[in-house]
Amino acid sequence: MRLRNDPKAREKIDNSNLVIKDFPIKLNENVILEIGMGKGEMLIQLALNNPNNIYIGIEKYPTVVAKAISLANKLNLKNFFVVCNELSNLENNFDGKVKEIWLTFSDPWPKKSHYKRRLTYFKFLNIYKSLLTKEGILKLKTDNDDFFNWSIESFKNYGAKIIYLTNDLHNSEKNEFNIQTGYEIKWSKKGKNINYIEVSF
Ligand SMILES: C[S@@+](CC[C@H](N)C(=O)[O-])C[C@H]1O[C@@H](n2cnc3c(N)ncnc32)[C@H](O)[C@@H]1O
Repeated sequence: MRLRNDPKAREKIDNSNLVIKDFPIKLNENVILEIGMGKGEMLIQLALNNPNNIYIGIEKYPTVVAKAISLANKLNLKNFFVVCNELSNLENNFDGKVKEIWLTFSDPWPKKSHYKRRLTYFKFLNIYKSLLTKEGILKLKTDNDDFFNWSIESFKNYGAKIIYLTNDLHNSEKNEFNIQTGYEIKWSKKGKNINYIEVSF
């Protein structure tokens, strides 16, 4: 994410009570996770709209985490939390299951040799499967067509069930309840179609 590095980000994170520092991270059916939430535009809006749910963003880059915390504080949110870490480091640090996980505009890692870093590589699908309830759903949206197509193959090879798929989220029936992320706003303004898929395991 192109944002000037905030040298005080770590300090802000250490001092914030919105940042989860106790492990394992407690999950339940009222919790919704977003992996790679960036500045958290979508998750924060969802938290505002749905005070009975708890929203947890996982984001590895401290500068954007600090931005998200700042906005959530301004809005006085009590149901939005952040984990500042790389997802692979957290694999065994969850306790419980959720009904919804979001992958939003994940880094596409376009180089062929980097495919294992893509958040839809089977190693990560194992994590999502272990975190989702039986009825739980993984939701993915992206502007990147190659990453989207690769992810569909990865889901199929894994044996995941495709529940919904569109290459044009903003002109689909799902748009009514769609809340845009920061990247989504940027790319759709440029006329890019937004791909969207829901899968279960
Ligand atoms: C392209 S940005 C998208 C940000 C946001 N989801 C949006 O749509 O505006 C991808 C974000 O995912 C974060 N990220 C990528 N891989 C991650 C991982 N394995 N664990 C945690 N965060 C990750 C990056 O630091 C970056 O902020």
